[in-house]
Amino acid sequence: MSENSFKTTDDDSRARDEAAPEAGGGQALRPHAEDSFAEELKALAAADDRPRPERWRLSPWAVATYLLGGTLADGTVITPKYVGPRRIVEVAVTTLATDRALLLLGVPGTAKTWVSEHLAAAVSGDSTLLVQGTAGTPEEAIRYGWNYAQLLANGPSREALVPSPVMRAMAQGMTARVEELTRIPADVQDTLITVLSEKTLPIPELGQEVQAVRGFNLIATANDRDRGVNELSSALRRRFNTVVLPLPATPDEEVDIVSRRVEQIGRSLDLPAAPEGMDEIRRVVTVFRELRGGITADGRTKLKSPSGTLSTAEAISVVTNGLALAAHFGDGVLRSGDVAAGILGAVVRDPAADRVVWQEYLETVVRERDGWKDFYRACREVSA
Ligand SMILES: Nc1ncnc2c1ncn2[C@@H]1O[C@H](COP(=O)(O)OP(=O)(O)OP(=O)(O)O)[C@@H](O)[C@H]1O
Ligand SMILES: [Mg+2]
Repeated sequence: MSENSFKTTDDDSRARDEAAPEAGGGQALRPHAEDSFAEELKALAAADDRPRPERWRLSPWAVATYLLGGTLADGTVITPKYVGPRRIVEVAVTTLATDRALLLLGVPGTAKTWVSEHLAAAVSGDSTLLVQGTAGTPEEAIRYGWNYAQLLANGPSREALVPSPVMRAMAQGMTARVEELTRIPADVQDTLITVLSEKTLPIPELGQEVQAVRGFNLIATANDRDRGVNELSSALRRRFNTVVLPLPATPDEEVDIVSRRVEQIGRSLDLPAAPEGMDEIRRVVTVFRELRGGITADGRTKLKSPSGTLSTAEAISVVTNGLALAAHFGDGVLRSGDVAAGILGAVVRDPAADRVVWQEYLETVVRERDGWKDFYRACREVSA
């Protein structure tokens, strides 16, 4: 028996439109992907003449173009959201068109959440059917809960039932998202097995079930470093196609990612553009990559790695904070002094061990490097 009584999309999106009249530049501090990039999605849908899986807003090809960027026949430029191997995106998108769910795996800050949001936005036009995984995520967050006032007044009924985002996605043939799957306790994770293999969610209290309609699929993200917190059961893992998101392969790629995202974030915070900031961005990326990899860029000096992850995401926030400092307390030009404190904060997580690592890097590498004198001085100032 299938019962699709949760058709709230239209109401939901209308409510959202009213709350955020000018998506992208409007009031929401962080608009959803489908709102920020509404124009691009519209242009893609108009240009897209390839077959679309049922209930998909776009064809798999157009979804991949949305993520990777490109120029449409009518000249519309689609900005790249994900910078990385094309094949990864193609496999991820294709998975969503099959009966297997998608698991995005990777170290922190490799854009798992970011890719998941954009995939859901492009495929279903809605990235908000989201379950945030934590150690305290209850089964109700994945299945359904009850409106207790209604439940007490009228007994269990469809009206008293509060569907989870996963249940709504099933009923509407949309993309559901589960963030940080491995943080969820194992028995709660297992709730997903029936959903993913039988494509149904039983409601024993009502003697009913909600069957997934075509178009439903699920994207989960999990952190490599959390492995061991709650290992994915092999039964559940089999229901997923796993796609590993790598760290940026080259310094240029990482600089490209950081500068792109900093520009977008800066615009949303009304920070002035900082085209002169490229040198500092390159420097932040160099420091992060060297310490992360445990070796200098020229391959000559071995380094100790600090305990933090020094992810691309952290590089982005170091530069964004630096820009804000430059804008509010400097002359608007991003300089060494604006990023030094941020770098120190990202590197020295463990005050004892990491400080030693940082000092050694500072004295043996930063100090000796041509053109890094200002940066060395700025770092000495904040390290003192
Ligand atoms: N390859 C990449 N392409 C584009 N953006 C990237 C890339 N790598 C990182 N980013 C940026 O890094 C930021 C953080 O990414 P996100 O939060 O998705 O990481 P995550 O993998 O989910 O990390 P965590 O494991 O901590 O949850 C985003 O703003 C994203 O744009
Ligand atoms: Mg994440």
